[in-house]
Amino acid sequence: MRVIALLMAAGSGSRFGAAEPKQYSQLLGCPILRHAAEALLADGAVQALLPVVAAGEEARVAAMLEGLPCLPPVAGGATRQDSVRAGLEALAASPPDAVLVHDGARPVLPRGTVPALLAALEVYPGAIPAQPVTDTLKAGAEGAIQRTVPRAGLYRAQTPQAFRFPALLQAHRDATAEATDDAALLEAAGLPVALLPGSESNLKVTYPEDLARAEAALLPRFL
Ligand code: C5P
Repeated sequence: MRVIALLMAAGSGSRFGAAEPKQYSQLLGCPILRHAAEALLADGAVQALLPVVAAGEEARVAAMLEGLPCLPPVAGGATRQDSVRAGLEALAASPPDAVLVHDGARPVLPRGTVPALLAALEVYPGAIPAQPVTDTLKAGAEGAIQRTVPRAGLYRAQTPQAFRFPALLQAHRDATAEATDDAALLEAAGLPVALLPGSESNLKVTYPEDLARAEAALLPRFL
């Protein structure tokens, strides 16, 4: 099975509040994006990465990922969905069997996650890792609680998300509303997506304090 992973890095990371997008921040002496790339490749199931980056950052990212099996980076778009679509269209002329879509800001991916997702594609057109919601959920407006949302059966979607390539490309081409992950587009197309156990260590670096958590999760691999 030919598997390509889109490494999503075209976001500006405005919530992170640094001059640089979060995926380029250093973690244990190496950019977060490179940790994410190495983690995707660690199980040997992905043949190549396709970085999707902000226009103008192509050469810098190629240098950051030097030595790894990478296709030339492509420029993303204004939203994450636009960026994923740009990556998929770049692969369409020579389509892989399966595609993974991974946030470049998730540097800690437990071994075994990628093979488990790809195995699920034998049955489902898409598969994602997700963690159960553990906080109590409130819906609110103007600073006041409107209601409590039952959390039973609710999950936090993580990446990498795995898809049969033709299914995800078609779902993106047919999309009529914006989605914050790719599974949502398959769901909108009425296709089943497998939900696999995620991991608390597979965090998305969003706020500066996430760096310390990511470092603590990565450190055991270097000891
Ligand atoms: O904004 P969010 O944290 O959901 O972004 C998740 C991932 O998607 C990040 O790795 C970010 O770089 C990427 N992204 C992108 N293009 C955008 C927005 C986000 O590739 N326009």
